[in-house]
Amino acid sequence: MSEKNIVETSAAEIAVHWQEEDYFAPSPAFIHQANLVDETLADRFSLDNFPDYYTEFAELLTWYKYWDEVLDTSDAPCWKWFRGGKLNASYNCIDRHLAKNKNKTAIHFVPELETERVDHITYQELYVRVNEFAALLRNSAGLKRGDRVTIHMPMSVELPITMLACARLGVIHSVVFGGFSASACADRIIDSNSRVLITMDAYYRGGKLLDHKTVDNEACGLAEKEGQKVDKLLVWQRYPGKMSSNAEIVEGRDVIVNDELKKYYGARIEPEQMLAEEPLFLMYTSGTTGKPKGAQHGTGGYLAYVTAMSKYIQDIHPEDVYWCMADIGWITGHSFIVYGPLALCASTVIYEGIPTYPDAGRCWRIAQDLGVSIFHTAPTAIRALRKVGPDEPAKYNYNFKHMTTVGEPIEPEVWKWYHKVVGKGKAVIVDTYWQTETGGFLCATVPGMQLMKPGSAGPGVPGIHPIIYDENGTVIPPGAGKAGNICIQNPWPGCFQTIWGNRERFVDTYFKMYNKNPNSKDWRDWPYLTGDAAMEAADGYIRVLGRIDDVINVSGHRLGTKEIESAALTVPEVAEAAVVPVIHEVKGTEPELYVSLRPGFEPSAELRQKVADAIVTQIGKIARCKNVYIVPDMPKTRSGKIMRRVLGAISNKGDVGNVMTLANPEIVDQIKGMVD
Ligand code: WT7
Repeated sequence: MSEKNIVETSAAEIAVHWQEEDYFAPSPAFIHQANLVDETLADRFSLDNFPDYYTEFAELLTWYKYWDEVLDTSDAPCWKWFRGGKLNASYNCIDRHLAKNKNKTAIHFVPELETERVDHITYQELYVRVNEFAALLRNSAGLKRGDRVTIHMPMSVELPITMLACARLGVIHSVVFGGFSASACADRIIDSNSRVLITMDAYYRGGKLLDHKTVDNEACGLAEKEGQKVDKLLVWQRYPGKMSSNAEIVEGRDVIVNDELKKYYGARIEPEQMLAEEPLFLMYTSGTTGKPKGAQHGTGGYLAYVTAMSKYIQDIHPEDVYWCMADIGWITGHSFIVYGPLALCASTVIYEGIPTYPDAGRCWRIAQDLGVSIFHTAPTAIRALRKVGPDEPAKYNYNFKHMTTVGEPIEPEVWKWYHKVVGKGKAVIVDTYWQTETGGFLCATVPGMQLMKPGSAGPGVPGIHPIIYDENGTVIPPGAGKAGNICIQNPWPGCFQTIWGNRERFVDTYFKMYNKNPNSKDWRDWPYLTGDAAMEAADGYIRVLGRIDDVINVSGHRLGTKEIESAALTVPEVAEAAVVPVIHEVKGTEPELYVSLRPGFEPSAELRQKVADAIVTQIGKIARCKNVYIVPDMPKTRSGKIMRRVLGAISNKGDVGNVMTLANPEIVDQIKGMVD
């Protein structure tokens, strides 16, 4: 492994010093097989060639009709990509592969229980099942092009089958994360005016069979109260007869899919020829304020973008077994379990359960048994795996060549464990920075061409031109050592088209801040605001510091929460760290730190001091924490994100709000007891 160490000597107004600035190079073997190695890349994807360079992405797909215009800006900033082109996403993910690859595995489904059989679904079988279910959707549920459908399902083969059947008909799917409550689901049913909800009877999580349908009985009731009637609740059955609540069938509304499907065995449904700009799906995401917003993604632009990202950044080849451990209920799962990999005719793994069930070796066993070569996950999972089984990967015989991380900044300590232990020192790591709204990656390294730099995502991916502005709209140049608001200068095909039913909120949230002329039809006048704070180093690599509201301001100096947390993680006993700003009379705010310990370590005053000292040593006195609390666990969302908002409220003696949707609500009172 060639390795160089470059220390940035910027006039850092901000205390954003990581432990070190290392670069890691991909191995020659990786470079040799990489999908994208091209010395002229910067030129090819320069703004001078915008937007035409994106036709290369669109050419990865099969079109019924080519586009009339690459980018239509007439309705700025609601861009239309590949206007006039016609295609179908289901056709691109399935039908077009049949001639050469019908017997290839499209999906490996791994149930959580190791006593259940792993399923290997070929492209032919996927084709048959998607067609039959599409026939059911059309004939038994009365769905047609442009209708919205809410899907509230756990990780299963039936989930992508359901999505692809919708796409085949031009029905807009809105997948709600399976772990969301009835009321969250109802909100989304109402906002999208779905009159059909699709669910599953039950699923395993942490070894327990969870009754899922009952949640959706309740969701239907809540939606109806608000005036959105669910006419049909379609229920896939994995465990017929096992859950008593599933016996409570509402006549006329509930349809047991497994029974109903028998009417459609052998049915074939011609894919709808969709205009590129017609919506493919909605994905709800939370904003700073207000109710969740439905990010509306289009068909042609989105599919072209995610296919290109899977090919060039994830470096997926036809022979790869690719496993993205995200949930399909989030954008990562849509783009990088379902649409990107299947459009490339890859074999994609779907794992039902939690990564550490029934033991810390589960992930690595799956990787070994299926021969996974590309692995995609998030820092939260990496930290959890490191915490429960730092030595487990070595016990299994698997070989990753490529690993991805997504969702939040990864601390260099954690990055290095991922690289050395999980990747066995051989796999490349691509830190991908993007958002629900962006459809696919914004910043990442092209793995065969660009060096990795722990803690930094990378430069804009080919075609993306990031720019960092300060509050007044002045550009902060690379290497200035100052953080600002990261924006994207150019439109790109993966970007969402609008917020469902709320164009004004779309324009205000994402485009207003740096727009100088609201009537302009020129894309140059509409930089996209990500809402993240970031720094661009002299090498063009972007280090994301977190959401704009995640940045702590101490005495006029901005401290990235991640910098402090990374410093805490250099103490070997520390498993997880979360820092929150506490209001301070003179300094504005000052950081307060929560840490949890790795197994086998006990809290003590000495350890608290050691952590506090590590922060000062790593970053400086400016980052000195008011308090360090050693807590038994962090308050976490069901998707595993640490809820800093809850910790912040505790630290500031404020209202923690509703915590019942947390994975571990009971921890909140325990922590409160320690802080009071
Ligand atoms: C926010 C978007 C994109 C899929 C998962 C999350 C943060 C995302 C990174 C990264 C640092 C990251 C940003 C972004 N984020 N990826 N590699 N490094 N921060 O999707 O729920 O829409 O969240 O996640 O703050 O704005 P999301």
